[in-house]
Amino acid sequence: MGSFTASSILLLFLFSSVVTSLPLSTNSRWIVNDRGLRVKLACVNWASHMEPVLAEGLSKQPMDTIAKRIVSMGFNCVRFTWPLYLITNDSLASLTVRQSFQRLDLLESIAGIEANNPSIIDVSLIKAFQTVVSSLGENNVMVILDNHISKPGWCCSNLDDNGFFGDKYFNPDLWITGLTRMATLFNGVTNVVGMSLRNEPRGPKQNVNDWYKYMPKGAEAVHKANPDVLVILSGLSFDRDLSFIQDQRVKLTFSGKLVYEAHWYGFSDGQTTWLDDNPNEVCGRVATYMMRTSGYLVDQGYPLFIGEFGIDQSGSNVNGNRYMSCFLGVAAELDLDWALWTLVGSYYTRGGVVGLNEHYGAMDYNWCGARNSSFIQRISSLQSPFRGPGLSEAKPHKVIYHPLTGLCHKKIIGPPVAVRSLHRVLPLELLAPEEFSCKRNSFLLTNRRIRDIGETRYLLH
Ligand SMILES: *[C@@H]1O[C@H](CO)[C@@H](O)[C@H](O)[C@H]1NC(C)=O
Ligand SMILES: *[C@@H]1O[C@H](CO)[C@@H](O)[C@H](O)[C@H]1NC(C)=O
Repeated sequence: MGSFTASSILLLFLFSSVVTSLPLSTNSRWIVNDRGLRVKLACVNWASHMEPVLAEGLSKQPMDTIAKRIVSMGFNCVRFTWPLYLITNDSLASLTVRQSFQRLDLLESIAGIEANNPSIIDVSLIKAFQTVVSSLGENNVMVILDNHISKPGWCCSNLDDNGFFGDKYFNPDLWITGLTRMATLFNGVTNVVGMSLRNEPRGPKQNVNDWYKYMPKGAEAVHKANPDVLVILSGLSFDRDLSFIQDQRVKLTFSGKLVYEAHWYGFSDGQTTWLDDNPNEVCGRVATYMMRTSGYLVDQGYPLFIGEFGIDQSGSNVNGNRYMSCFLGVAAELDLDWALWTLVGSYYTRGGVVGLNEHYGAMDYNWCGARNSSFIQRISSLQSPFRGPGLSEAKPHKVIYHPLTGLCHKKIIGPPVAVRSLHRVLPLELLAPEEFSCKRNSFLLTNRRIRDIGETRYLLH
C-alpha cells in the first residue's frame, strides 16, 4: 500500500478539481466536466442492495476510512447499488440500521457497526444510505446510484423475478416512482454524478419492445427530477447486449446526458471458454462479440461504461485470469469508463453465509487494505484517461499497455511477429526489457508520452 499512499496526495488534489467541476455531461463518446474536459470514470462497485440494505463493510471499518481507501487505490468514483424497495417501501426505508440487522439476526454486525460507525446505528436505512454518499463526497469521490434489484438480496439470476419489466418484483410504474424519488433525494448533491437506471435486465420476459417502452420513460423521469445526473442505460441479457441500439436510437427530450452500460465477466464468456483454446484466439472472438454488442457504441458517439467486470483476485481461476488480460487490453484500447466488481471484502451475509469472503473484492476480508495489490497495480494505468477532450492536443506517443503486469512498454525492438490479437491480426513487436510504469503518477510526470492508445498492442501471455 506504500506506493498508493504516496500518490494519494496527488490524487486528492486531482479529484478535488474534478469534483468542483461537476456536473458531468457527454461530448460525443466522452464524459466531460463543466469545463468540457474529459473525466474518466474509474469506479468500484460498493454493494448496498443486499438483505440488510446497508453499504457493506461498515461493521469492519469507519466509512470515512473506507472512502479514503477507495481513493488511495486510485478510484475516483463508486457505483453505489440500491434496491428499489429502499425508496418505495416506507416501512423498509424507515427501519433503523439496528432494526434491519436485528430482523436478520446479524448481531455480530450490529456490534461491529456500533464500534466503527456509531453515528448510523440508530438512523433509518435511507438516512444511512445518504450518509455514505456524503462521506464519499467529503473525500471527493463521485457516485453513480445504481438501481441494482427491487427486493433486497444478492443479484442476479434469470429466475429471481427481479429481472425485467413485469416480473413479480419489477413493476414498471413503481420503478419510475422509485427512480424519481431517488433522483429528487440527491438533487443538489454534487458528487452524485449519474444514475444507472437498472442493473442487468434479464430473464424470460426480456424483450426489446418493452425495453424501448420503459427505459426512455425512466430516463425522462430521472432527468426531470435531477437534470444534473448522467442517465445510464443497461442492455439485455445481463447487460451483455446493446446491439439493438444500432437499429433504433433511444429518443429523449434532453441531450448531453446519455451513457450506455455493459457488463463483461470471464464466466459470461463460458466457464471454460478461456481454457479450451489459445487465449489470443479466444480474445479475438469474445472482443469481436463485445464490439458487436456494445463496443460499437463509442464509434457511434456514445460513452460506454463497463459497469461491472472482475475476477477472483486470488488468481486461482485460470479462466478468469485469461479473460482479465483480454478485458484490460480492450479497455485500454477503447479507453472506456468502468466500474470494478467489487469493493466488498466480505458481506454481512450472502447466500445464507454470514461474513462471506468476497474473492472478487478489492478490499481484503477485514476491509483493511487491498486484497491483492498487484491486481490494483494492473488496473491502475487504466484509471487515467489516455485520450479525449483536453488531452488530445498532446503529442501522440507509441505505448504498449501490458495487461499482465499493468506496465506500459515504450521501447520496441526486434522484428514484428504476427499474433492474432483481438478482432484483427496485429503485428506484435518484441519488447525490450526496458519498460516503465504507466501508473497515475507517471502520467502526471510524463503525460506527454502516453497518448495515442491507438498504438496499443496486446500481450496475453
Ligand atoms: C416493506 O418492508 C417491510 C419491512 O422490511 C416488509 O415487511 C414488507 O413486506 C415490505 N413490503 C413490500 C410490499 O415489499
Ligand atoms: C494476486 O494475484 C496474483 C496474480 O493472479 C497471484 O499470483 C497472487 O497469488 C495473488 N495474491 C494474493 C495475495 O491473492
